Amino acid sequence: MSVFKLYFSPTGGTKKVADRIGDAWEEGVQSIDLFAWEQNREGTAFSPQDVCLIAVPAFGGRVPALALECLKTMQGNGARAVLIAVYGNRDFDDTLLELQNAAESCGFTCTAAVAAVAEHSIFRQFGAGRPDVQDNLQLSAFGKELKARLEQDDCASTLFVPGKTPYREYHGVPLKPKADKSCTACELCVKQCPVQAIPADAPRTVNEKICISCMHCVAICPQKARKNAKMLMMVGAKKIGQACAERKENQLFL
Ligand SMILES: Cc1cc2nc3c(=O)[nH]c(=O)nc-3n(C[C@H](O)[C@H](O)[C@H](O)COP(=O)(O)O)c2cc1C
Repeated sequence: MSVFKLYFSPTGGTKKVADRIGDAWEEGVQSIDLFAWEQNREGTAFSPQDVCLIAVPAFGGRVPALALECLKTMQGNGARAVLIAVYGNRDFDDTLLELQNAAESCGFTCTAAVAAVAEHSIFRQFGAGRPDVQDNLQLSAFGKELKARLEQDDCASTLFVPGKTPYREYHGVPLKPKADKSCTACELCVKQCPVQAIPADAPRTVNEKICISCMHCVAICPQKARKNAKMLMMVGAKKIGQACAERKENQLFL
């Protein structure tokens, strides 16, 4: 049995959650970075003995379209999948259901799922500091339980996760980060933008039609030069503030 960790994590929160769950298998987990799309164009073929932890963030309560595109290149061949949806303390809505349907379409057998909170990658005040110490203990315990169940083949044959179809509508958000004067044109964001939305000849700008608002450029900028428009941030935070106010707990679905 080989264990794989497939993650799409623009700002690192999803990876943190997948790492804590994967710790149960200690050194034996192989990582596949779905965000490094160019490197994974070929996809990977798994076998029925394999276990795949598949982790994605919630974007508008859905699986990011780019993560779905990358997942489609994978051949599950009956490998068992543990689905992980990571969200910014508002809601994961239909993310797990959409992920389950996508994983099953590429031949995975979905055996378990986790919904977990990480710091909101746009509005960092929501879910701030998560996963925290309490989360990490719980996620490690989830990992150990999953490992034991998978080794004993003690998982339900049909997985039921929350969510409904048609999925929640998501047409993107108007937040498209641009760089201020502190940008040194190092081009790190140009090279790492997963959709090539930042032009090399004008790295302070962004092609708003292409940008998926994943916030990777904001997270990696060495100068902290890339930012969203202040007014849009205020309006957005007000809009979701109430829904994000109370601490949401991580959930395990078996
Ligand atoms: C475009 C976008 C949409 C998001 N939509 C939601 C959402 O619907 N619900 C939620 O709770 N968090 C939402 N978030 C927050 C992320 O799901 C959360 O911060 C996640 O941990 C980000 O993963 P990452 O750190 O791996 O990039 C959104 C973030 C972005 C960038």
